[in-house]
Amino acid sequence: MTPMKTIIALVIFAFSFGAQAVEGGFPLQKADVDVFDLESVRRGAGYFVDYCLGCHSIKHLRYSRLGKDLAIKDEVLRNDIMPEGAKVHESFLTAMHPDDAINWFGVAPPDLSLVARARGADWLYSYLKGFYIDRSPTRPTGVNNLYFKDVAMPNVFWDLQGLQKPIIAAHEGSQVIERLEKSTKGKMSDDEFDRTMSDLVTFLVYAAEPAQYSRLSLGKYVIFFLLVLAVILFKLKKEYWKDIE
Ligand code: HEC
Repeated sequence: MTPMKTIIALVIFAFSFGAQAVEGGFPLQKADVDVFDLESVRRGAGYFVDYCLGCHSIKHLRYSRLGKDLAIKDEVLRNDIMPEGAKVHESFLTAMHPDDAINWFGVAPPDLSLVARARGADWLYSYLKGFYIDRSPTRPTGVNNLYFKDVAMPNVFWDLQGLQKPIIAAHEGSQVIERLEKSTKGKMSDDEFDRTMSDLVTFLVYAAEPAQYSRLSLGKYVIFFLLVLAVILFKLKKEYWKDIE
């Protein structure tokens, strides 16, 4: 094979893999994430404390860090975001003991510090929206998830989103889930729920890399410095060449 042919073959090979991956699972839904929308990160942090911190920690993130990055005062942080009894310098730590969790769910809920990097924003968004009723006796939580088969996590948003049931269709001789359909009405409209999930994912994306804010502002200085340097060098060059030309 010529090098060119090898490259083409490799590219086709890579694409065929991608196509298979999509075929195997449900296509991901797109999260509306903007980590520079500080209000969105802040709302997401609130939802996290209300709905997730009961089971999951974010060990790498301290409340004080969140306060600093989002420019929120300690008092507001304490009243609006932090759980009762937590201290500002502490991390987002769950009160749930891993042994209890294993008793209840069979597995300990993982730390979510880096989950946005490991799974990606769209996966998280799809997963949070992907719970559906599954009454089989092997499912103690009464739900399953389109993006995480037989997940041990219960559906914490069933009342906000409403319950979803799977619509099953025959596909090449086997029964597969075609799509999910609402079977009860949620407290939120679909749009409100989508926004809420996007805020939560935005917070997780921020939490996976809190340094991204300071890095960006540093980046601006670096570019400014390089521009100034370019002007100086250009002038210097003209100065040097003046006598030669
Ligand atoms: C009642 C406890 C409980 C609550 C509340 C809870 N989870 Fe979970 N979560 C679990 C358990 C248990 C698992 C492990 C599932 C497994 O491995 O089957 C899990 C797994 C996950 C995973 C998959 C991690 C991975 O990559 O494998 C994500 C993401 C997640 N939870 C996000 C959340 C978010 C976001 C919230 C808040 C909206 C939340 N969870 C609330 C118990 C909980």
